[in-house]
Order: sequence, then C-alpha cells, then structure tokens
Amino acid sequence: MNKNERRLPHTRHYSLHINIRFALEKMTKHKVTFRFETEPNRVVTVEARPGDTILDAAHDHDIHLNHNCGAVCACSTCQVYIEQGMDSLPEISDKEEDFIDRAINPRINSRLGCQCVITADIEVTIPDQSTIIGH
Ligand code: FES
Repeated sequence: MNKNERRLPHTRHYSLHINIRFALEKMTKHKVTFRFETEPNRVVTVEARPGDTILDAAHDHDIHLNHNCGAVCACSTCQVYIEQGMDSLPEISDKEEDFIDRAINPRINSRLGCQCVITADIEVTIPDQSTIIGH
C-alpha cells in the first residue's frame, strides 16, 4: 500500500464528517432578533426554519418587510441592516450590491433580506418601511 492509498480512508472519513456537519448545520434552527428603526424599544426574537432567509423569517412571524420583486434580487425593498452575524451570511453578490446602492438610506451593514440565508443567530434592524413604496 502506497502513501496515497493509506490516506484514502482518512479522506473519505473526513469528507463524510464534513457532509454530516453541513447537513446538521442546515437542519439547525437559528434565532433572528428583529429591531425596528421606527420603534426603538421594540425587539422581536424568532426562530427561523433551516434554509430560511431573513425575509422568510420576517414573514413567517408577521413582521412587515417589503419585497416588491418577490425575493429574486431585483429590487431593494427588502433591505435590512445587519447588527450582528454579518460574517455568517452568504457573501454579497455584485447584483445584490448594485441593488443596495439603489436602496433608501443604505448603510455599510445593509443586506437584502431575501438574499441572506440564515446559518447562525443574527440580529437585524428593519428600516422604516413607510418610506418605501412597496408591499
Ligand atoms: S425582495 Fe426584491 S431584492 Fe429582495
């Protein structure tokens, strides 16, 4: 048995370990804490389903967040401000960045709620929805 053959079982074991860990992480529920730009004292913490986006979590819990394009990254109405957990979110795409530039009051911590799959506990602020023509 050469060196590479001896490594193969270890590699397979490691790969299986990574796949199981990834699957478990995908099944794990995470908490999303919502704060509201227009209601500084209001804080709502919800549990997101595995695979949910921030927009999904908001809507599942009757938290209003506009979403004019239907969550396909073609508007900026679902903009949120990420207060904690930015590193856990998927990397921002050029398209998302372009739409954030067109959003009302974009900030350095802006993301589009429909593009952010939740993979850890996070905290977000919902911008003033009354300034957005949307639904
Ligand atoms: S709903 Fe349009 S970009 Fe998110």
